[in-house]
Amino acid sequence: MGDIPPLAQSTPFPIIKPLPPDLFAVHGASAEMRWEAMRGQGHLVPNDRFFVRNHTATPLIDLTTWRLRLHGSGLRSPRDLTYADLLALPATTVDCAIECAGNGRSFFGTQQGRPAAGTPWRLGGIGVARWRGVRLSAVLALAGLRGDAVDVLPSGLDPEYVDGGVNLGHVRRPLPVAKALGDVLLAYEMNGEPLPPDHGFPVRVVVPGWTGIASVKWVGDIEVSTTPLSSPWSTGMYRMFGPGSPPGGGPPLTTQVVKSAFELPWEAVLPAGRAHLLSGRSWSGTGRVTRVEVSDDRGASWRPARVRDTGHSAAWVLWDAEWTPARPGPHTLMARATDETGAGQPLRTAYNTMGYLFDAIVEHPVTVVS
Ligand code: MTE
Repeated sequence: MGDIPPLAQSTPFPIIKPLPPDLFAVHGASAEMRWEAMRGQGHLVPNDRFFVRNHTATPLIDLTTWRLRLHGSGLRSPRDLTYADLLALPATTVDCAIECAGNGRSFFGTQQGRPAAGTPWRLGGIGVARWRGVRLSAVLALAGLRGDAVDVLPSGLDPEYVDGGVNLGHVRRPLPVAKALGDVLLAYEMNGEPLPPDHGFPVRVVVPGWTGIASVKWVGDIEVSTTPLSSPWSTGMYRMFGPGSPPGGGPPLTTQVVKSAFELPWEAVLPAGRAHLLSGRSWSGTGRVTRVEVSDDRGASWRPARVRDTGHSAAWVLWDAEWTPARPGPHTLMARATDETGAGQPLRTAYNTMGYLFDAIVEHPVTVVS
């Protein structure tokens, strides 16, 4: 199943914000953040350089007619909420990452010799932002959540997704009630501004720590059910398929894995014989990153990087390490992280056909010039 959808007929381009080539690499309807653009930036990714992952195209939604429809057998008081209704509820702010399940997918091919189908992300299918909005749990309580409700299904208002000639409908993916009642947000602000159109205006779901598909953008409808719900995004996609997985695929993907990236261009060029302050970021969906190490000899030896900040369990840590390359020519830099649960980064990620959850240490190519 291809990850790059046909472009919508009605819009000139599926992403609205400018995508300057020094900030983004464009893949079909999606745009990958360039890591070198994060060097010198703070903890958060500014909205103008945050990656975009669209199945179809960014819709332009009229606030005067937009409603959030809450319905289904799991609610005692189904209702429609306006934007003003949401803004009137108590607000919560969360700094967290949204990361595509396929982030790092290209390395199944380029590093491990077995390409996986789908958008060929390097490591730029992630961003961290300050999301402000209303707890999903508060909205569900308002609509009379029943004690026997099991699943919550937010749907997006972007055009329906057609894959291989089959219309799969609006992007939607069920969340178990237990997760929906936890740290999940209905966000209307990103880094202090109303959500930009490409990132879900007027309201998106934000599910800290989980693969990005759970964070449905442009949400217009939430079904709550006392019986399990499913969608193509929880059955045919966003599960592990291939060797090592059951014939029908593994369970729907939830938490993200550990990854590390250098804030360097892909194929960086650095002068020889002088000290460079390498910088980067590491993150994990399962806990705070506690240790980062770097290697310049293909993993034969490792030394600790200086971790610059901690305490953001659902975001990333910034780190740096000095490196003085002695000889000109091609080099490989590697970084690996470990989180508080002990989860780390292996040398290889087990293959899965759709190329999800690449957690192996990435070999970053650098050319040192005299
Ligand atoms: N929600 C809708 N309605 N349509 C989409 O195409 N893409 C999902 C998710 N929510 C998507 C969506 C995926 S796969 C990811 S990784 C994130 O949105 C990306 O969020 P961003 O574009 O704000 O970075």
